[in-house]
Amino acid sequence: LGQNMHFEEQVDSTQTVAHQLAREGAEHGTVIVADEQLKGRGRLHRPWHSQKGSGIWMSIILRPDIEPHRAPQLTLASAVAITKMLKFLTGVQPKIKWPNDIFVGDRKLAGILTEMQAEQDLIEYVIIGIGLNVNLDQKAVPDDLQDVATSIQLETGKAWKREELIQELLYQMESIYELFLQQGFSSIKQAWEQDAYRLGETITVKARRKEWEATLIGIHEDGALIVEDENQSKSVLYSAEIDWKK
Ligand code: BTN
Repeated sequence: LGQNMHFEEQVDSTQTVAHQLAREGAEHGTVIVADEQLKGRGRLHRPWHSQKGSGIWMSIILRPDIEPHRAPQLTLASAVAITKMLKFLTGVQPKIKWPNDIFVGDRKLAGILTEMQAEQDLIEYVIIGIGLNVNLDQKAVPDDLQDVATSIQLETGKAWKREELIQELLYQMESIYELFLQQGFSSIKQAWEQDAYRLGETITVKARRKEWEATLIGIHEDGALIVEDENQSKSVLYSAEIDWKK
């Protein structure tokens, strides 16, 4: 990954640039990094604050030979790669919140947005978008995110060079991606659960147009979320939002 790197000063969204390049035939492993995004986007059409120089705003084009329904597993695999990089380089102790958030304590440090282009049962490409707050200081955190966002700088008390973090992140992504292709998602499940947020604790689950309290049990071999309600009845969820009382 990253043999082919595109550095941009300012873009609307690295996802949009990545889609464009992928449609034009960009090879597997092409990476787009921007200093600033004007229309950074997150899951569920949420905006993603991407101020100049304050974080890693990056999209990776993958062309995996897997069935389309497995693409969400790449989100979980990427989360593991991000936590490995953070632990190895920064000493920050990150936790993964299913499916796509990296938290430190009760604040979000990074998010992953996976988008896919598929024709019937063939994946044309997958784009893994990673937003990681690096040198965002308290003053720079937007008002509405004061209590919910953090950055590596806020956690460690110093500024970080983005290049070094990007290099290690791509290295970790590549080795996890290889493992994923060769041995399947189950080989990553354990690493995921090791750093999972609130495992065994009570959480609020929103899914299937309902909301209920449940215990977070873990993830299934295929990446689905497993929760258990008070009557010991388990649910395996492929699409859900989880939260907890603050
Ligand atoms: C989320 O938490 O909902 C996912 C956030 C993903 C943000 C990244 S930043 C790089 C890439 N470009 C975007 O517009 N979004 C992703």
